[in-house]
Amino acid sequence: MFQTGEIIAVNFVSHNDSQLRPYLVIEKHDDGYTALSVSKKSEQYKQKDLSVVIDNSNLENGQLDDEFIVPANRSFFIPHNQIVKKLAKVSKSTMELIIKNQILRYTNVYYEHIHNNKENQFTEGITKINYAGRVFDNNEMLNLMDASLEFWLTYGRFSKQFEKQLAELLDTKYVFSVNSGSSANLLAFMALTSSLLEEKKISRGDEVITVAAGFPTTVAPIIQYGAIPVFVDIDIKTCNIDTSQLTSALSEKTKAVMLAHTLGNPFDLGAVKKFCQTHNLWLIEDNCDALGSKYDGKYTGTIGDIGTSSFYPPHHITMGEGGALYTNDPKLKKIILSMRDWGRDCWCESGFDNTCNRRFSGQFGKLPFGYDHKYVYSHFGYNFKITDLQAAIGCEQLRKLPGFIEKRINNHQFLIQGLKNLDNIFILPEKTLHSEPSWFGFLLTLRDALSFSRNEIVEYLESNKIQTRNLFAGNITRQPCFDGLKQGVDYKIIGNLNNTDKVMNDSFWIGVYPGMAKEQLKFMIKTIKDFVRKKM
Ligand SMILES: Cc1ncc(COP(=O)(O)O)c(C=O)c1O
Repeated sequence: MFQTGEIIAVNFVSHNDSQLRPYLVIEKHDDGYTALSVSKKSEQYKQKDLSVVIDNSNLENGQLDDEFIVPANRSFFIPHNQIVKKLAKVSKSTMELIIKNQILRYTNVYYEHIHNNKENQFTEGITKINYAGRVFDNNEMLNLMDASLEFWLTYGRFSKQFEKQLAELLDTKYVFSVNSGSSANLLAFMALTSSLLEEKKISRGDEVITVAAGFPTTVAPIIQYGAIPVFVDIDIKTCNIDTSQLTSALSEKTKAVMLAHTLGNPFDLGAVKKFCQTHNLWLIEDNCDALGSKYDGKYTGTIGDIGTSSFYPPHHITMGEGGALYTNDPKLKKIILSMRDWGRDCWCESGFDNTCNRRFSGQFGKLPFGYDHKYVYSHFGYNFKITDLQAAIGCEQLRKLPGFIEKRINNHQFLIQGLKNLDNIFILPEKTLHSEPSWFGFLLTLRDALSFSRNEIVEYLESNKIQTRNLFAGNITRQPCFDGLKQGVDYKIIGNLNNTDKVMNDSFWIGVYPGMAKEQLKFMIKTIKDFVRKKM
């Protein structure tokens, strides 16, 4: 009986020569073994992807007389009667790599056969055109397999690598991965309520300027904490904050501005940042729909005090569920880290102890001297960490991000070109001055007094298998979650929200994600034009 990891000498009856050939046992069966061929390193057997070179240093016992190659793709069934003897045993760490490479090899095969199936041709009106979706290849799956085999599971080496890669890409000092964009927004807001910020901290009853057109979890943390969102209207062309309203929204209680870059189009960061600086206010950029967008040459999300990202599948990159926060402020870094990780004071990474070298020799609050720093809490926190499985996917997605951004920009431009003649029917998207949007979607707003409604065109597109989306919550103050809240007390509205209501009633958006092909974009343009022709 031979074991996994043993090199055996095999006599192949089919070979004319009587030479014994070495094989590496992978798996035992009743009638024999699955084994990998072991070949002398040569011109024919060079080290390739997933092949492993072994020599005596890789052995637990026995001897090899040269360097050998174990290619990942040469596995055989060897019946008992062809095995002559055991030659050596490969070490556990080398076997770890060899077995892992077997799994990765079949991961590639699985990807090619199952996910990279090109048979499904696009047929107009039959094949669904999603507004967004995951775009990935075998490399995301390989990273995921790698992380699952390692089985670290919680925040680990891939999470650290992901944060580092994102920090480098955004040219920002600190990045924290979290389990969703909504968690990122909640954490960003809660960080600003920390007592470590002294008089700048946001307290209950303080005001935060924002807009009502957008995603609910940009606003939810403000209300959940007991602060007061102050809503101003949007500019109809960019669907971002109308910055001329900022001054009217300011009061003695204003502490922050918290806004999303709508569908990837940056809000007027020049005006908003200046307003925040002048009045000593925090700025949180909800960058969940805008990863890769730039304003004045700098990445959005890095211009305010904190930026947030979402990695839910429709977003610019995905890890299934996931998100991130970024900041350049060392004090905010400390607070965010504490609040993300249960509110603790300790900053040891998972699995490590006593990084601070004062684990049992500090005075914290009114605790007894020397209370274990691992269990000292300086904030009321959460646990928003991601698993290393998510981060492993994210690392590969980040590598693809520059290409994704380029495709989103090109797809958006293609739709603009194709639909520009309908400018009298729709308000078409317009990028904010000084910006380079990494578009999330293509927003169309019906002009006033048309002979059709938003729902009519949306139903027509959907019936042609073109997926559409509303601009999220429309006017969030009209949502049922506001039913129990009192205007003027729990929230404020400055002036009117006419443009916000217009978007709620008359806007919808279609996709520009990198998985779209030109034929799909062309069909979207044609279908919109067909509908308009029929109606006008
Ligand atoms: C602007 C904006 N903020 C926050 C979020 C929330 O992200 P998540 O779904 O990861 O919680 C989204 C989600 O799409 C969003 O569009």
